Amino acid sequence: VSLERALAAVVGDRHALVDPGLRAPYERDWTGRFGAPARIVVRPGSAAEVAEIVRICAQEGAAIVPQGGNTGLVGGGVPRGGEVVVSLGRLDAIGSVDAALGQVTVGAGATLAALQAACRAAGLDAGLDFGARDTATVGGAVACDAGGVKALRHGTARAHVAGVEAVLADGSVVSRLAGLVKDNAGYDLPALLAGSEGTLGIITAVRWRAVPAAPARVAALVPLASAEAAAELLAALRAHAPSLESCEFFLDDGLELVLRHQRRPAPVRRAPMYVLAECAATADPTAELAAALDACGIEDAVVADDTAGREGLWRLREGHTEAIGAAGIPHKLDVGVPLARLGRFLAEVPRVVERAVPGARTILFGHLGDGNVHVNVLGPEPDDERVDDAVLELVCDCGGTISAEHGVGVAKARWLERARDAADVAAMRAVKRALDPAGILNPGVLLPNPAPAAGAGADL
Ligand code: FAD
Ligand code: MLT
Ligand code: ZN
Repeated sequence: VSLERALAAVVGDRHALVDPGLRAPYERDWTGRFGAPARIVVRPGSAAEVAEIVRICAQEGAAIVPQGGNTGLVGGGVPRGGEVVVSLGRLDAIGSVDAALGQVTVGAGATLAALQAACRAAGLDAGLDFGARDTATVGGAVACDAGGVKALRHGTARAHVAGVEAVLADGSVVSRLAGLVKDNAGYDLPALLAGSEGTLGIITAVRWRAVPAAPARVAALVPLASAEAAAELLAALRAHAPSLESCEFFLDDGLELVLRHQRRPAPVRRAPMYVLAECAATADPTAELAAALDACGIEDAVVADDTAGREGLWRLREGHTEAIGAAGIPHKLDVGVPLARLGRFLAEVPRVVERAVPGARTILFGHLGDGNVHVNVLGPEPDDERVDDAVLELVCDCGGTISAEHGVGVAKARWLERARDAADVAAMRAVKRALDPAGILNPGVLLPNPAPAAGAGADL
């Protein structure tokens, strides 16, 4: 029996996609930069089916690419050529929310928006949010350890993982969904899977830790002269506004691109840089936000405390991804730098990009409160890595990280050894070898595949 037929027998013909037209949406990433034909796309309907798929692939030595909503931005969820794509979208059940614990068990394929709605209906907040909420899945968010616009207050996805159910590379299933608040009997496998990008196991369900709802909200869009002024505002927000939930930034050329794309006028005085801050609490947090603005002598912020007004401001920030995507296939470099070096970094990036590929266009925005900069470069061909190398080199020089929230994927795998020291990478390889000795789970993602020495077996 061929691999394709064996897999179809597990999931049913309707969910075993071999036709190139049906496979296509699973084979190219959101940016259009990454992807290749898969051998087959399978859409299991249960954790047991995922386990059976993995067992069959393990027997055949067939490589697997786990995929959620395919909104990842580092090429880790799409095939590199000939893999079995396991799409988790059908595992979208959401259990009832345990209000006493503030937890809910959610299928890996449920969208972030569906999880948010379930938490809201129970008087809670998921505590995680980002622009791809309607398509990105909870499994994908945990696998990437996604960050988003609330990480400043509630941490990244891993902070919300109270447990997981996952299929390991031999087809065994580990399940820690009891939701015990304290359970330190042995290694924390759920924590290990968070941020593993599909290389250590396929997450089939997550026990999600929600946060208290904070329905009283106020946002401010603040025009500023420099990164130093932005850092000063962030410090004032931290000092005066315990209700601070988000602190984002973008620059004037990014705003211009978004305004043109959205065909709307600027709602704010034009300036080199903008900070979008939002405070959220159970009682009106406007006074806290105002105290922070006053402390910095800011008088021309655009403040919105109604839903429509806040959403209008957020569209300027979240609209960057779509506006950039509409202008071309970007090189997206999600990096982190120490806040003290942010000004130098923002000034240097366009220069190093221009030196690497003259004429390339650089757009910078991100999560100021997390020191997380999204460097987007338009112009270079998708496989021209000169700008990626130049920007990541600068990041390392600044003492930053090559991946803050999107993951390493295939985009930055060859940079891991430059960004982490040798002992660190060796420990990661040891974990990978222990849990996936044949290297069938997402090969080429996160850990670079070293060229095998002559005569040696495949290394991981
Ligand atoms: P996919 O793209 O399908 O997969 C991503 C990775 O996770 C791959 O390596 C894949 O193999 C692995 N994976 C997926 N599901 C599983 C599973 N069940 N088990 C094991 N491995 C799995 N990211 C942020 O962090 N912050 C943001 O603010 C943010 N904003 C975004 C805005 C837009 C408009 C877009 C398009 C993307 C944004 N992203 C952001 C990136 C992306 O949405 C997140 O990384 C998201 O978590 C990916 O989820 P997904 O379900 O689409 O995963
Ligand atoms: C964001 O913060 O908007 C996202 O991470 C998406 C992106 O980087 O384009
Ligand atoms: Zn982001």
